[in-house]
Amino acid sequence: MKPQTCDVVVLLSGTGSNLQALIDDAQQADNPVRIRAVISNRAEAYGLQRARDAGIDTRSLDHKAFEGREAFDAALIELIDVFEPKLVVLAGFMRILSADFVRHYQGRLLNIHPSLLPKYKGLHTHQRALEAGDTDHGCSVHFVTEELDGGPLVVQAVIPVELHDTPHSLAQRVHVREHLIYPMAVRWFAEGRLSLGEEGALLDGQLLAACGHLIRN
Ligand code: GRF
Repeated sequence: MKPQTCDVVVLLSGTGSNLQALIDDAQQADNPVRIRAVISNRAEAYGLQRARDAGIDTRSLDHKAFEGREAFDAALIELIDVFEPKLVVLAGFMRILSADFVRHYQGRLLNIHPSLLPKYKGLHTHQRALEAGDTDHGCSVHFVTEELDGGPLVVQAVIPVELHDTPHSLAQRVHVREHLIYPMAVRWFAEGRLSLGEEGALLDGQLLAACGHLIRN
């Protein structure tokens, strides 16, 4: 029997390999995560197919059908809240969110980003890490606040940059780490261990370091 479940809605725009990692992890008997729905702004996103294959409800909402960001985000909130999630998980959702949206889900909105934040907010993170000559790279899970890719960090996975790395090879190795740390963070939240406090992310009641919980290699 599952412990008391935590309903989660996942938002994505693309392939959904992080969604798959979450689906796989949620299948473990002792995991309280229940993915109630997957919503995409792109009807053709492969992530929606992954959800359907797992028997999860899907919805799509085309941002191009709306006048502006606020109108789209308001409709998105309505769609999400039908499922009454305790947590909303961004898994490659390629939209900048309005302040109203972020405030509505304050403390229950997580994102994963393919860099060691605060480095390389935004796009092309692997290329930027290589161009900068970084010896370490990785990915970060964070609570979402109004500052783009700037909310309190929950967990980071660090990998070494190798001599012959390309943006593609680096992206592949970072992805493997994403699939490890995102289910971990979502599960912490679902178990009631992770929350957002006044001063940052809390794990088991303790304020996490500025970089979040750190995992190396
Ligand atoms: C990941 O690299 C994630 O860090 C970023 O979007 C990408 C989504 O990949 N936010 P996938 O669709 O989960 O494969």
